[in-house]
Amino acid sequence: MKDKPVTVTDFKRMKRDGIPITALTAYDSIFAALLDQAGIDLILVGDSLANVFQGRTTTIPVTIEEMMYHAEIVARNVKHAFVAVDMPFMSFQINPEDALKNAGNMIKKTGCKAVKLEGGIPIKSTIKKIVDTGIPVLAHLGLTPQSIHVFGGYGVRGRDNHQSLIDEAKAIEEAGAFAVVLEKIPRNLAAEITSTISIPTIGIGAGNKCDGQILVTPDMLGLNPEFNPKFVRRYADLAERALEGFKLYCANVRSRNFPSEDESYE
Ligand code: KIV
Repeated sequence: MKDKPVTVTDFKRMKRDGIPITALTAYDSIFAALLDQAGIDLILVGDSLANVFQGRTTTIPVTIEEMMYHAEIVARNVKHAFVAVDMPFMSFQINPEDALKNAGNMIKKTGCKAVKLEGGIPIKSTIKKIVDTGIPVLAHLGLTPQSIHVFGGYGVRGRDNHQSLIDEAKAIEEAGAFAVVLEKIPRNLAAEITSTISIPTIGIGAGNKCDGQILVTPDMLGLNPEFNPKFVRRYADLAERALEGFKLYCANVRSRNFPSEDESYE
């Protein structure tokens, strides 16, 4: 059952039946394979690539070529999970025609099954055009990191404008998005959006009433220990484990403990 590929209709069914959707990010084939083995429903090749992989402070500089390179190696051997890729800043904002061309290229060249776009009402016609052409769209509302300089920071969104976020969610549903990521918004607002729209909501820092949850994989694995927002639950301490391994290796090489005879050839 785990090898049967997840499709957009599974997400619809999961919302209808109240089965939570599991989602995490990946940027390379090793972690993509582990997520697939774990039975994750959705893998996102996020433009968080910029933060967790490229050491940048925002997602703004990441290019479409960089996203495509990582998306292709993530999607290459995934058998079960539905793989979506983020459209980076300025790859879809100029006009719907450019957006469609870029989305089409991403799908054709990477093997991903959907694209993710940040934004609501201003990109409604872009989402519609991409979906009408046959490419599933995952939308993204609330804290949309590509607009960070307009917000002025990574704080909670939507506290003072509940209705406008609900209107944005309705607009992306009308445009045909198959699901929407809700990032860093109050949990009661996320719950209201979840019960108002018919497409699944996937929360990150949006409480547990969403139809699914997503986290940035290196954050939940403790690979980025300095980054500690309260919505990230730490499931492993991989940075500590890796550091221990690296230090032991250095000590073993320096003391000529490694390699042993068994680790060498006659
Ligand atoms: O880029 C990303 O990883 C994302 C998730 C935080 C949803 O958009």
